[in-house]
Amino acid sequence: MSRERSIRVELEGRGYDILVGRGLLERAGELVRPVLESPRAVVVTDSNVADTDLPGRLARGLEREGVRSRTVVVPAGEASKSMERLASLLDAILEGGADRRLAIVALGGGMIGDLAGLAAALLLRGVPFVQVPTTLLAQVDSSVGGKTAVNSRFGKNLIGAFYQPRRVLVDVDALASLPRRELVAGYAELVKHAFIKDAELFAWLEKHARAMLAGDPELRCEAIARSVAIKAAVVAADECETLGERALLNFGHTFAHAYETLTGYGSELLHGEAVALGMAQAFALSVRLGRCPQEDAARAVAHLAALGLPTRVEQVRPNGFPTEDVLALMRRDKKASEGRLTFVLSCGIGRAELVRDVPENEVAALLAAPP
Ligand code: GLY
Repeated sequence: MSRERSIRVELEGRGYDILVGRGLLERAGELVRPVLESPRAVVVTDSNVADTDLPGRLARGLEREGVRSRTVVVPAGEASKSMERLASLLDAILEGGADRRLAIVALGGGMIGDLAGLAAALLLRGVPFVQVPTTLLAQVDSSVGGKTAVNSRFGKNLIGAFYQPRRVLVDVDALASLPRRELVAGYAELVKHAFIKDAELFAWLEKHARAMLAGDPELRCEAIARSVAIKAAVVAADECETLGERALLNFGHTFAHAYETLTGYGSELLHGEAVALGMAQAFALSVRLGRCPQEDAARAVAHLAALGLPTRVEQVRPNGFPTEDVLALMRRDKKASEGRLTFVLSCGIGRAELVRDVPENEVAALLAAPP
């Protein structure tokens, strides 16, 4: 078995390593002890992960290097990303005794990383935080970069903080029990990094994605590490999303968020599926606006479709969504300012840019008659 790959997120004074490999849960103590302040941790996980062998493997791995942990379980599902759940999680951690050297370890998907990360940022004004993502989406995207948040009744992720982990352990073996649909949905975020920054990675994925998704562990390590390296570089360049660089990670997301809102953020359309659909539309909009060669868009969309990801709205809703509803949600998107539509557009595979003031009539025409 090859040694884990290490990817550094270069941040002044708060840089950290993302380790990608196999069997990392079993070696968790050895891999995280150097960045902890004391050998004590609270592992935060959800009720689905708690039913697997992952918490036990992690606890034993930590214990091997003398790191004692206890596990706090929150209900699985997006509803746990709430102020109420955050408060009860903080109480559960404090109840067991906490000081500033206690570490919080997030074991789970995006919801757990966001919730536990915010708890770590708030507890005693900040305690050491480690991410152990268990879904492909969390491994390539949400566990990297320090975004933490809960939802508000006014929208998703509106209450949060940038709080970087001390280390991220990406154990590809943790994906073994992930349902195929979730795995493929997470792949949309993996290939997104290639679409915005790395044409060579995209060409590699065209050859290897199928075998990688089927379970080849070496291909998984390679694909995840290369995708994470792109995100790490983007985060290092623009940690707090103020310079236009980190915003590129939102490729496809203006469309995706609108569709997720219209489908209720549930199992009808998973986040990664919405992103795939949104990226297909972002490519189409980019072609329409003369920014992206048609052949690049066709190649990208064909790749997503071949893996079973949705690329046409009718695959989600046979009659589509009312154009005016989609536009209204886009005007409220976090990136839109004063109602002007903002999109990340493709300039060809491997390059993207943030474009403000995209003419609404062009978007409306695309939504009404997609290519
Ligand atoms: N998922 C987008 C970001 O981390 O900025």
